[in-house]
Amino acid sequence: FTSSKELHSPSGIPVLKLNGFVGFDSLPYQLVHKCQKQGFQFNLLVCGETGMGKTTLVESLFNMKLEFEPCNNELKTVELRTKTCEMVEGGVSVKLRIVETAGFGDQLDKEKSSSAKIIVDYINEQFESYLKEELKVCRHLARYDDTRIHACLYFISPTGHGLKALDVVTIRELAKRVNVIPVIAKSDTTCKDELVRFKKKILSELKANNIEIYQFPIDDETVRKENEALNSLMPFAVVGSTDFVERDGKLVRARRYPWGIVEVENVDHCDFVKLREALLRINVDSLRTRTHKHLYEAYRRERLREMKMKDGDCGPKMMEAFKQKEKEFRDEMKQKDDDFQRQFIDRVNAKEEELKRREEVLLIREKEQREKFEEEFSRLESSLNSIREEKAKLEAKNTLHSKKNKQRL
Ligand code: GTP
Repeated sequence: FTSSKELHSPSGIPVLKLNGFVGFDSLPYQLVHKCQKQGFQFNLLVCGETGMGKTTLVESLFNMKLEFEPCNNELKTVELRTKTCEMVEGGVSVKLRIVETAGFGDQLDKEKSSSAKIIVDYINEQFESYLKEELKVCRHLARYDDTRIHACLYFISPTGHGLKALDVVTIRELAKRVNVIPVIAKSDTTCKDELVRFKKKILSELKANNIEIYQFPIDDETVRKENEALNSLMPFAVVGSTDFVERDGKLVRARRYPWGIVEVENVDHCDFVKLREALLRINVDSLRTRTHKHLYEAYRRERLREMKMKDGDCGPKMMEAFKQKEKEFRDEMKQKDDDFQRQFIDRVNAKEEELKRREEVLLIREKEQREKFEEEFSRLESSLNSIREEKAKLEAKNTLHSKKNKQRL
């Protein structure tokens, strides 16, 4: 290599001055082509209490019909419902997976941490599946159906009072595992000044509870200004609707009221457009990247440490650790199974002994009863015999007496 002494990269490697065309400047186009061809996956979790407008908002965001069954308040626990579809825009295809919570906040016991746990467990399961695929000898990550959640829209009830205890517990747990973007549901039910105060209150409560919600990144010059403005709008005050109203000759998505209409896509009416821009136009890649590089990485680190893996362990050792963990799990299950069988046999034996004991007691009682009965019977029989003897004697006496009477006459 001939190099210019003045030019060095930050890592200290000399930077060459090219004397002619080489061709690697086409790399960005290759990447764009690859992305267009492959498309990408985007998994969105919508979490909020029943009837908050989750389905309506997602339908408004993606201009489609989701057909999730409305919740009937009878669910004993939180369920996660999934819908997957593919969409193409400008030659780029996206595989969209929507995961919606059903029955969240409906349970009578209001066991707050258990609702959060069910959702976090679901997110962890998706990380676990990816980790398993990653650790396979023959892995197919390019074709792998990646179900890791890239963003979570958390619906806050438009009470104007701040967060509920359920919100604090759930957002805190979710924020450790997913990019949480809080939204104020049905914001058309709250007036503008109140909304400003409500947003401030929510942010201060999140801060007071040390909860870090997702921040749109500002390290990239090209989107810094936009993302700073978007961050200042959090939590987004949203309105959703499945209805369209004619406005200036155009059909617009809106909610109709006796006093007028609230347009979903009007920035003066709500933050819906800003949310859509933030989520789908500007930051899809940042959300996916943070999920992979930060959130999944943290999960992976925890899991591998649990498996007693250390830095420097790789390849076969990793598989060994995984197999070891699997073996431990199988042994544990077998142990549980054996314990269960032993307990079952012990209980059956104990029951049998108890039955035997009871049978013996019954036999003894029966014998005693029989003996008593026989004794009574023989006593009655002897008294009957003596009565019979007595009767015979009396009859004999009677006959003798009547004979004597006849002779006298
Ligand atoms: P579940 O799936 O049953 O938990 O409900 P959900 O949270 O998906 O709510 P859904 O979208 O089914 O909406 C429930 C009701 O709220 C419907 O009557 C909607 O028309 C209404 N709704 C949805 N979005 C809004 C909104 O932004 N403002 C107002 N005022 N009502 C809304």
